[in-house]
Amino acid sequence: MKLIFATNNQHKVDEIRSVIDKNLELITLQEAGIDIDIPEPYDTLKENASGKSRTIFDMTGINCFSEDTGLEVDSLDGEPGVKSARYAGDDRSFNANIEKLLSKLSGKTDRSARFRTVISLLIDGRETLFEGICEGRVIEEKRGEQGFGYDPVFTPAGADKTFAEMTMQEKNQFSHRKKAVEKLVAFLNSL
Ligand code: IMP
Repeated sequence: MKLIFATNNQHKVDEIRSVIDKNLELITLQEAGIDIDIPEPYDTLKENASGKSRTIFDMTGINCFSEDTGLEVDSLDGEPGVKSARYAGDDRSFNANIEKLLSKLSGKTDRSARFRTVISLLIDGRETLFEGICEGRVIEEKRGEQGFGYDPVFTPAGADKTFAEMTMQEKNQFSHRKKAVEKLVAFLNSL
């Protein structure tokens, strides 16, 4: 099956390509010749994911999916959550977002957090949603160079390394995105 993945984030493309079956052909927006920055204006991951996949399906008529991910920190009442990409401003700087997060957590003992991914899949215009969660904590200082976003300050439960200190295969043993994609693949295989 051929599916457009409605994202401009190459890290997400690489991660998802590393876990999908060979019989699923993933086409990026760039490969589909679509050059747009799809807005994420809503207050929930679900609405943003739905909005992105619907935009691309309406433009192309091709089956597609999108995902929206947020980091939810318990002692910050779930922040940055759905605002994870623009936590420190509209330029979406990974470093500035991390600096803001670490400063808001300064002095707090509860650093528990989770990544949550919601995928919206549109097959013939009909939507199915999938969710993946990775529990863990936000550490005090950045560690590691791999990955993207908040990876340098997040250690998943059961690991000492941050996501940014892991290979993609190691991150996949814990990853929210991998869990959501596995559900999507199982659903497609059941069709
Ligand atoms: P979005 O799903 O593209 O809106 O992503 C929201 C923000 O969450 C991104 O800017 C990243 O900073 C962060 N993010 C999403 N997925 C991950 C991940 O797997 N690791 C670390 N940060 C992530």
